[in-house]
Amino acid sequence: MNNTGYIIANQLAHHSNKELNINPMSRIRLEADIQDELGHQVVASINSNKVSYQHCDVRDENQVEQTVKYTLEKYGSLDILYSNAGILGPVTGILELDLNGFDNTIDVNIRGMAAAIKHAARAMVEKNIRGSIICTASVAASLAGVGTLAYTTSKHGLIGLVRSACSELGVYGIRVNCVSPSAVATPLSCKAVNLQPSEFEAIFGAMANLKGVTLKGKDIAEAALFLASDESRYISGQNLVVDGGYTVVNGRQEPAFQDS
Ligand SMILES: NC(=O)c1ccc[n+]([C@@H]2O[C@H](COP(=O)([O-])OP(=O)(O)OC[C@H]3O[C@@H](n4cnc5c(N)ncnc54)[C@H](O)[C@@H]3O)[C@@H](O)[C@H]2O)c1
Repeated sequence: MNNTGYIIANQLAHHSNKELNINPMSRIRLEADIQDELGHQVVASINSNKVSYQHCDVRDENQVEQTVKYTLEKYGSLDILYSNAGILGPVTGILELDLNGFDNTIDVNIRGMAAAIKHAARAMVEKNIRGSIICTASVAASLAGVGTLAYTTSKHGLIGLVRSACSELGVYGIRVNCVSPSAVATPLSCKAVNLQPSEFEAIFGAMANLKGVTLKGKDIAEAALFLASDESRYISGQNLVVDGGYTVVNGRQEPAFQDS
């Protein structure tokens, strides 16, 4: 299992590798997804009685609300939301845009995140919890041309959603941030480009700015764990880009200006 949601669930349940200052209650995890078989496998493999699975299609606000309600009934509180669900959407560009596919991408990648933030934040406010909300965006939130049109649009919009939620929820002590990975070999990304994980890593590694290290789901989980912990207690409204510098340099490998 190499999707980032699984890796962070595992890290949160066991995070003994690092002395991060995370409320012990947060070790109790609720996984929510639409892939029920995978969800149950994740819970079984984490092997902790503090983790459970609930079916939740984030496009349906009622299911999101019920998932938060279930969490509160089962565990008493909710202090970290890691909202990670995402789809790539249709591969068609603007000239051939499949608008139904576009709507579905927005529904999962923005509307779903908005529903999750809404209901998680309500639960935090009600219980007076100074929680941490983390959404997975992407380098496609800052750059065009690295994802499909629908995906890029949705991830740009997600940054606005996170900043707006940050501005409203600061008064309650709730922080809202994004983590934005560049290319990680996961089921979503490998399927999109029809590559095996090793091929994916070789091709995207060649395009990366930072050499000698391969971006893994674990790196995204570490960034999210930092945002979940008290180590980041004054950080809110930020987009933590985990891309080895990819989005801040242009593609040229040689210096643009050289002595003649
Ligand atoms: N893999 C990458 O290269 C990469 C890069 C940047 C950002 N991301 C983002 O990381 C996040 C996780 O993606 P991943 O690469 O681990 O892929 P993944 O496909 O393994 O994970 C995405 C998860 O979202 C779930 N999901 C899809 N639609 C859903 C819905 N309607 N309701 C609930 N859950 C739903 C899927 O079942 C899956 O478990 C996504 O938001 C993605 O956009 C991935």
